[in-house]
Amino acid sequence: MTGTQPDPIANLKQQAAIKAAALVRDGMVVGLGTGSTAFFVVAELGRRVREEGLKICAIPTSNATEAQAREEGIPLTTFGAHPELDITIDGADEIEPRTLNLVKGRGGALLREKIVASAAKQLVIVADDSKYVDHLGTLCPVPVEVIPFGWENVAVRLGQLGAHVTPRKVRDGSFYLTDEKNLILDCVFGPIEDPHALGAAIHSLVGVVEHGLFIGMATQTITAGADGIRVITH
Ligand code: 5RP
Repeated sequence: MTGTQPDPIANLKQQAAIKAAALVRDGMVVGLGTGSTAFFVVAELGRRVREEGLKICAIPTSNATEAQAREEGIPLTTFGAHPELDITIDGADEIEPRTLNLVKGRGGALLREKIVASAAKQLVIVADDSKYVDHLGTLCPVPVEVIPFGWENVAVRLGQLGAHVTPRKVRDGSFYLTDEKNLILDCVFGPIEDPHALGAAIHSLVGVVEHGLFIGMATQTITAGADGIRVITH
């Protein structure tokens, strides 16, 4: 017999996602994150809209999430109609539990994710518990979104800040392009002692659009692991 094996990590992501989606109430304007964990949030909100009559409107953080939200029947809105959001629920690549500082952007949506997160009263992060780190920069590179013109110079400058820089590419060897048609430079810094200072230094480089350090933004993390669900609130 053939069939797909159950994926234990996907199951943990779904548990965290369902718990977070329960925070959403009638009338809320909701930011919808991007990635495999946020996927389960959008699916659960879609289920609640259809089966429970939940009345929300949402702003997606990527073209992929927008397509999923439309399929799920979640009403969408714009910043023009709703400049402020009540809650954003999104995934993360790294979480520092002491501070709730994050690295995001492995899925390439960090720019819209940061705009939507910064417009929301609450930023709730959902993940499996493999994303916890003592210091950001331990598990994955910090993605930096740059405009295509002159990216090579920005890469040199990022190298001078201590990064090993790799432009993100897709399978056929061409550059990965974000929804905004920018490039991503994946920057390995190693464990980061002062993410706030590093974020400011990256921002100061001309040509940088945004970086994946989310400092002081998350209000809550909901993670699932073998020993259950853990909620940290700041
Ligand atoms: C996309 C992101 C994602 O939220 C992050 O990469 C986590 O993804 P996943 O839930 O698939 O592990 O920042 O830009």
